[in-house]
Order: sequence, then C-alpha cells, then structure tokens
Amino acid sequence: MKASDKLVAALNDQITLELSASVVYFQLSAVLSAEDLPGMAGWMLAQSNEERDHAQIFTDHLLNRGGEVKIGAIDAPGAPADSSAIAAFRASLAHEEKVSEAVRGLYRLAVDEGDIDSIPLLQRFIEEQLEEEAAVSEIIGRLERAGDDGSAILYLDSELGSRHGGGEAPEL
Ligand SMILES: [Fe+2]
Ligand SMILES: [Fe+2]
Repeated sequence: MKASDKLVAALNDQITLELSASVVYFQLSAVLSAEDLPGMAGWMLAQSNEERDHAQIFTDHLLNRGGEVKIGAIDAPGAPADSSAIAAFRASLAHEEKVSEAVRGLYRLAVDEGDIDSIPLLQRFIEEQLEEEAAVSEIIGRLERAGDDGSAILYLDSELGSRHGGGEAPEL
C-alpha cells in the first residue's frame, strides 16, 4: 500500500533525524578521541554507523511504499557541555530521547492514518530505542560511579572499546 503524503513527510523527517543522530555521534567520537579515550570514541563511531543504518532502513521502507526520499537540513551537532566522557554520554542520551519521541510520534501518526504496513517496522524501532536509551543510561551510571577516578574511567574505556572493536581507523 502506498503511504499517505503525511506519512511520507514524517518518514523523511525520521530519515533526516537518524542521519543527524549519526552526525552527533561522529562529533562525540571526535571529542572523546581528542581526550585520549579511544574505546569510548570507537563506541560512539559504531553508534554513528548504526544510525546511518537506521536511516537506510527507513529509506528502504519509504521507497517500498512508493514515497519520494527527500533528506532535510541537518543541524550542526553542537558540542557537549564540556569534553568529559560523562558530558558526551549525556549528550548522546539527550539525542536518543529526542529520537525515541520522534518514533512514538511516527507510530501515533501511522495509527491515525490506518497505515498497518508501517506498524511492524515502527514497533522494531520502539524496541530499539528502549535498548539504546537503557545502554547509554547504564554507561552514564557507571561514569557517575567512576567520578574523577582516572583508572576507573580508563577501565570503562577499554571495556567499551572491546565491545565495539575499539576506535580503529578505517582502511582506505
Ligand atoms: Fe537510530
Ligand atoms: Fe540511536
């Protein structure tokens, strides 16, 4: 079934938001790299790639539904409150919460429009957002516990790095 004009516009907004999340994570990765935290920087870079994958999934859905893909303007990501690891992860949580709210809005719109075809995809994303927010919240909790303890922060850095293949530069 072809998606309604309203839903096509909202899906385009979501693609733009996922791409902007990718840019936010890319910026945060650079901030953490500059702070010599390669594990956390790699974690952020892996998230950046994941957000691009999300944009691709919504793009495929939109194309399958006969909609035209039109990427909107992407805002500059802005810097976190300071260059600490905890500020970077708090910035990431704030962005994830924004994305979650957008996915809920899309779901409500799909229900209003009687668009049954998009519901399974949106449910997957509701689940995905729950997981992302929980994962980032856990890291923030552990960073709060670490406080100013440099060795605790380095431990967390190496742990996050090993989970995500750790900040290695891509090859050409
Ligand atoms: Fe996403
Ligand atoms: Fe995300």
